[in-house]
Amino acid sequence: MTTRRCLFLVLCIFCAPISSARGVFLEADQNVTVPIEWIYVGRVSASDQILLTFALKQQNTNKLKELLERVSNPHSPQYGKYLTLDQLSSLIQSSEETLKTVWTWLRSYGVQSCSTVQTSDFLKCFMPVSTAEKLLAGSKFNRYTNGHHTLIRSLVKYEIPEEVAEHIDFVGGVHRFPSKMTVISKAWKTSRHTEAGFHLGVTPAVVRKRYNLTASDVGSHANNSQAVAQFLEQYFHQMDLTEFMQLFGRSFVHHTKVDKVIGSQGGIKAGLEASLDVEYIMSTGANITTWVFSNGGRHESQEPFLEWMMLLSNMSSIPWVHSISYGDDEDSLSMAYMERINIELMKAGVRGLSILFASGDDGAGCREVRRGINTFRPSFPASSPYVTTVGGTSFKNPFQITAEVTDYISGGGFSNVFRMPDYQAAAVKSYLKRMKSLPPASYYNVSGRAYPDVAALSDNYWIVSNLIPIPWISGTSASTPVFSGVLALINDHRFQKGLPALGFVNPLLYSLQENGTSGAFFDVTTGCHLGCLDEKTEGQGFCASLSWDPVTGWGTPNYPELLKALLVGNGDDP
Ligand SMILES: *[C@@H]1O[C@H](CO)[C@@H](O)[C@H](O)[C@H]1NC(C)=O
Ligand SMILES: *[C@@H]1O[C@H](CO)[C@@H](O)[C@H](O)[C@H]1NC(C)=O
Ligand SMILES: *[C@@H]1O[C@H](CO)[C@@H](O)[C@H](O)[C@H]1NC(C)=O
Ligand SMILES: *[C@@H]1O[C@H](CO)[C@@H](O)[C@H](O)[C@H]1NC(C)=O
Ligand SMILES: *[C@@H]1O[C@H](CO)[C@@H](O)[C@H](O)[C@H]1NC(C)=O
Ligand SMILES: *[C@@H]1O[C@H](CO)[C@@H](O)[C@H](O)[C@H]1NC(C)=O
Ligand SMILES: *[C@@H]1O[C@H](CO)[C@@H](O)[C@H](O)[C@H]1NC(C)=O
Repeated sequence: MTTRRCLFLVLCIFCAPISSARGVFLEADQNVTVPIEWIYVGRVSASDQILLTFALKQQNTNKLKELLERVSNPHSPQYGKYLTLDQLSSLIQSSEETLKTVWTWLRSYGVQSCSTVQTSDFLKCFMPVSTAEKLLAGSKFNRYTNGHHTLIRSLVKYEIPEEVAEHIDFVGGVHRFPSKMTVISKAWKTSRHTEAGFHLGVTPAVVRKRYNLTASDVGSHANNSQAVAQFLEQYFHQMDLTEFMQLFGRSFVHHTKVDKVIGSQGGIKAGLEASLDVEYIMSTGANITTWVFSNGGRHESQEPFLEWMMLLSNMSSIPWVHSISYGDDEDSLSMAYMERINIELMKAGVRGLSILFASGDDGAGCREVRRGINTFRPSFPASSPYVTTVGGTSFKNPFQITAEVTDYISGGGFSNVFRMPDYQAAAVKSYLKRMKSLPPASYYNVSGRAYPDVAALSDNYWIVSNLIPIPWISGTSASTPVFSGVLALINDHRFQKGLPALGFVNPLLYSLQENGTSGAFFDVTTGCHLGCLDEKTEGQGFCASLSWDPVTGWGTPNYPELLKALLVGNGDDP
C-alpha cells in the first residue's frame, strides 16, 4: 500500500487539480439535527486540525455478497471456507482509479497527512478546518459538547466535485453525532416494589442455569476469543470485573481480567454499559479470551462507531465473536452510510466473524411522519441483514428461574432500507400468516429485513460498576453479550472438532428452525413490545408467537441443544 500511495503522490504532480464545474451533495439525506444532549459551543477556528474519513468506493461488492452467502450456507461446498484479511483485500480494495482520483483531489488542496486500512477502502486525513471547508464545499464546522466530551461537526450539507463523488461513498466526521444507546436502570421504578425476594435479580448463575450451562460448559480452546465494543465515554474497570466475579462467578471457571484492550481506556468512571457487556460476555463465554474495543473518539471529529468498523479492516487477527450494543434510528442515517456499513458487516462475515447487535430498547419504535400519522422506527445496524440481532425477554415469574416472556422494550420490526434476505423469508412469511392481528400495514414494511433473530434475558441484571454492585440493570445491552458468549462457547466446541468458526450464523440458524422450534431455543410465545402511543395501535408493536417472531426472534438459547444443532460442518445435514 505504501508503495502504491507514493506512486500516486508522484503521479499527481503531473495531474491537473480537480476543479469541477459541477458539485454533488453526498449524504443529502443525512439528518443533521443536533441531538438534545449536545449543545453548540462555537465556530471552530480555521487553523484547528480536523480528521476526515473518506469511505472509498470498493470493488466486487456483488461478489462479496455472493461469497458471504456461500461461506455461511451449511449446504454449500464452500461453507466455512473463510477469507483471510489479505484475501478480502484483494477482492474488495478500491480500484487504482478510485485511489488516484481521490488522492489527486486531496493533494490539490494540500492534504497529505492520510492513512489507510489494510483493505485500502478508507482514507483518514488530517487537515486544517479551513481546508476541510474548501474541500467539502458548503460545510461549516462548529464545536459541540455534552458536558464530558466535545465534537466537531458541520450541520450544513457539503458538495464535492462530480468526478470525485463517483469514488466516495460518504465522508465521516462531518454530520453524524454518536448515538445514545444506554442501558436502562429501572432502580427508580422497581424500588417502589417491596415484594419479598424481588431483588433476586439476574446474575451469571441465573443466566447459566436458565440456558442449561453446566459448570463444565466453559471455553478451553486456546485460540478461541470474543469481544465487546464500546463507544464514546464507555469504559470498564478490571477491578469491577474482579469484584463481579468474586461475588457472582464462584460456580464456573472464568477469566478475571479482560485479555486485551484495543484503543483508549481513559475514563475515570466506569460506564454501566461497559461494565455490563464485559461482565456478562465473560459469564456465558466463560474462560474464553476476551477483548474490549474501546473507541472513545479520541479526536473531536471522529465517529466512534465508524472507527471500530475501520479497525476491523485493519487487523488480521481478531476475535471470532463481537457483541455490540449500539444503534441509531434508520431514518436518521443516510442511505450511503447504511449501505456502506452493511458492506463492512459483510466483510466481517466472509472472514468468519460473528457480529451481534442489540435490537434496541424501544420495541417497534415510533416516528411521527406527519401530524397524527405514525410509523414504527427501525434501528440500524440491528436491521442489517448481515448481523445477528438479539432481542430481550424477562422471566414470567421474576422470583424464579421460569419460562421467559417478551420484555416489552425488546427492539424488533422490519427495515425500511434493507430487503428481506432469503434465509428468513419462510420464517417471516409464516409469522405474518399465523398472526390473527397485526399492526396496521402502514406502520411497517413487510418486504424489509425483519429482526431480531434471537433473544436472551434483558431484565433485572446485577452488575458491578465503580466497585458498587448495582441491581435492576435492563435492556438488550444485557441480552446481547449473554447470547454472544453462548456462540463463543459453541465456536470452542467447533474448533475442538476441527470445524471452522460459526461466522455469520443467520442462514444456519434459520435453516435449523425451518420446521418450528427444534429444542435449540426456548420459544418465547407471549407478550408484545412497545410501539406508538396512538389510537390505531394502542401502544403496541408486534407480539410474540410460536416459532420466529419480530419481538424475540427464534427465542432464547437452550445451550446443549443449540450446541448439538450448530456443530455442523460442510456437507452435514443440520
Ligand atoms: C492501519 O494500520 C496501520 C499499520 O498498523 C497504521 O499505520 C494505520 O494508521 C492504520 N490505519 C488507520 C486508518 O488507522
Ligand atoms: C434445559 O432446561 C430446560 C428448562 O429449564 C429443561 O426442561 C431441559 O430438560 C434442560 N436440558 C436439556 C438438555 O434441554
Ligand atoms: C480454560 O482455558 C484454557 C485455554 O485457554 C484451558 O487450557 C483450560 O483447560 C480451560 N479450563 C477449563 C476448566 O476448561
Ligand atoms: C492458534 O493460532 C495460531 C496462529 O493462528 C496457530 O499457529 C496455532 O496452531 C493455533 N492453536 C491452536 C490450538 O489451534
Ligand atoms: C432528526 O434528528 C432529530 C434529533 O435526533 C429528531 O428529533 C428528528 O425527528 C430527526 N428527523 C428526521 C427526519 O429523522
Ligand atoms: C420498503 O422496503 C423496501 C426495501 O426492502 C424499500 O425499497 C421501500 O422503499 C420501503 N418502503 C418504505 C415505505 O419505506
Ligand atoms: C422439515 O420437515 C420436513 C417434512 O416433515 C422434512 O422433510 C425436513 O427435513 C424438515 N427440515 C428440517 C430442517 O428439519
